[in-house]
Amino acid sequence: MLQVAIEAALEAGKFLKTNVGNIKHIERKIGQETNLVTEIDKQSEAMIIRKIHSHYPLHAILGEEGGSSAQQSEFRWIIDPLDGTTNFTHGLPIFSVTIGVEHKGDMIAGVIYDPNADELFTAEKGKGAFLNGKKISVSTTDTLINSLVVTGFPYNVKENPENVIQHFINFLPVAQGVRRLGSAAIDLAYVACGRFDGYWEVFLNPWDKAAGVLIVKEAGGSVTNFFNDSTDTVFRPNTLASNGRIHQQMLDILHKTLRP
Ligand code: IPD
Ligand code: CA
Ligand code: CA
Repeated sequence: MLQVAIEAALEAGKFLKTNVGNIKHIERKIGQETNLVTEIDKQSEAMIIRKIHSHYPLHAILGEEGGSSAQQSEFRWIIDPLDGTTNFTHGLPIFSVTIGVEHKGDMIAGVIYDPNADELFTAEKGKGAFLNGKKISVSTTDTLINSLVVTGFPYNVKENPENVIQHFINFLPVAQGVRRLGSAAIDLAYVACGRFDGYWEVFLNPWDKAAGVLIVKEAGGSVTNFFNDSTDTVFRPNTLASNGRIHQQMLDILHKTLRP
């Protein structure tokens, strides 16, 4: 299954890269004026689903652009066909394709492909994580002040839900640096390979992180919610991923505004 996920992600990623600048229709998702979707997102998803179903016609699908299938199956493919749509529409080369495979509620395989850097991050449960075929691991940084951390903002950031902006302000003076790249899947992939030491975000969807959560864990990192609960992380919106060593320090910063 990993091989099919890889082939689908490579094919879709190349399609995205070729079509930067070729967007004909940009729509806004209902009720969210900054949440964009283009025909390229939809075509990428259709391409990925075709590939999956040509190998596994009975498997279930959960895709961001509506490509879900009611099929009952032990296996479900969770797909974001273009993670980083805002970057994509501006020609900013930070976007990715991400595909996770779930078996009876457990993530068993994950792929994140960044077509601009030609970087393919992969993992299978219990078998480690890889970047372009080479084993990767999280960083060994053990203090937040020496850490480069990253976050993302939900599309309704201006309402400042769950103190999104306050978390950002709280991290700025206590980390070495704070970044916001615009693709949650790339953020997670970079934690897995040690470029970032930690990542947090509120309100992620399962397709943003299904593969990334597995890849970070297989690279030796930790993924929890903001209360250090590591169960069901793909389906709960709050996400904290780190090298493990700075996890508690990041929780302490998040708790500055989570506690009453
Ligand atoms: C978004 C990106 C962004 C994150 C948002 C996601 P999209 O996904 O991953 O980095 O901050 O929460 O919704 O809409 O580009 O697929
Ligand atoms: Ca996404
Ligand atoms: Ca998307």
